[in-house]
Amino acid sequence: MGYFRKTIEQMAGYTSGFQPKIDNVVKLNTNENPWPCSPKVLEAIGNLTAEHLQKYPEAMGDRFRMAAAVVLSIESKNIICTNGGDDLLTICFRAFCDANRPVAFSEPTYSLYPVLANLQGCEAIEIERDENGSLDELAKIDAAMTIVCNPNAPTGDFIPVEKLATLAGQLSGVLLIDEAYVDFAEDDAIWLIANFDNVILLRSMSKGYSLAGIRFGYGISDVELIDGLMKVKDSYNVDAMAIAAATAAIQDQPHLKMNVEKIKAERRRLVDELRSMGFEVANSETNFVLAASIKKSAKAVYELLVERNIFVRYFPLPGLEDKLRITIGTPQQNDKLLAALKEIII
Ligand SMILES: Cc1ncc(COP(=O)(O)O)c(C=O)c1O
Repeated sequence: MGYFRKTIEQMAGYTSGFQPKIDNVVKLNTNENPWPCSPKVLEAIGNLTAEHLQKYPEAMGDRFRMAAAVVLSIESKNIICTNGGDDLLTICFRAFCDANRPVAFSEPTYSLYPVLANLQGCEAIEIERDENGSLDELAKIDAAMTIVCNPNAPTGDFIPVEKLATLAGQLSGVLLIDEAYVDFAEDDAIWLIANFDNVILLRSMSKGYSLAGIRFGYGISDVELIDGLMKVKDSYNVDAMAIAAATAAIQDQPHLKMNVEKIKAERRRLVDELRSMGFEVANSETNFVLAASIKKSAKAVYELLVERNIFVRYFPLPGLEDKLRITIGTPQQNDKLLAALKEIII
């Protein structure tokens, strides 16, 4: 064709999790929250008027920034609103990386990072992940941008924040900590923001807050980095409906905690049951588990689950081809999954 830049023509693009078009499926493949968002979110959306839609939204989503600042005990100037966490990733790649400024991360991790590196025309230095997230290696590489996903996807493990603090101090570039799943973890890295001017935290409203359909995320960082990122973002990157919804959601912390506790309880049950069936399951601080299938190939188990209208995620990638990533569902969804697995594994 010749219309596209060479990189675009040659690249595969990001593969999103499968969205089944039929009803009555058990959908445990894209780490959505199985529980509905706070009723206050629907109320806030219902309160929008034609005028809200007629006018451009707040360019920086200030309503959300102020509400989040109160909840997180930080200042609103330390927050940038984004169109999902993915938008923050795009903004950071555009802001920090180019042909001479690489990105580094350990893998397996979120498969969007190499895609964005490709789009930006920067080198992606990918190193094999060890049990410490390969932080020592990442410090040695000292890329223009280093990304650590914590808790990591798809492995679900959590690197102690003190170790990330050490890394932040060793790097001369930016450390982007992807905390998309942090609502399900026991700790977070927010205290690093007051101590390091090179750390950016990515937060998502898609997972803990059950708002994947709205598209809202945010970044937390030192004010100089936030100001720089503001120059790179699209002029109105968060819309009026998303600002209203995300603001109501973050203000309803009891609802978040209730849903997170339900998911953690099911996570414990699922891990125990899967282990007793012979799967090798690592501890998870997220809303999913990564289970290695020992008795039958993971691909076969995946396909037999699909036949039963149960969808989990299978990655045909080195190091992951023997594993299934399973989102924690409702007790009923998890029961269906476990019953199907019992049939399949025997
Ligand atoms: C590790 C990680 N980071 C960031 C995101 C982006 O989330 P969103 O754009 O829905 O906020 C995801 C989504 O699945 C993710 O898995």
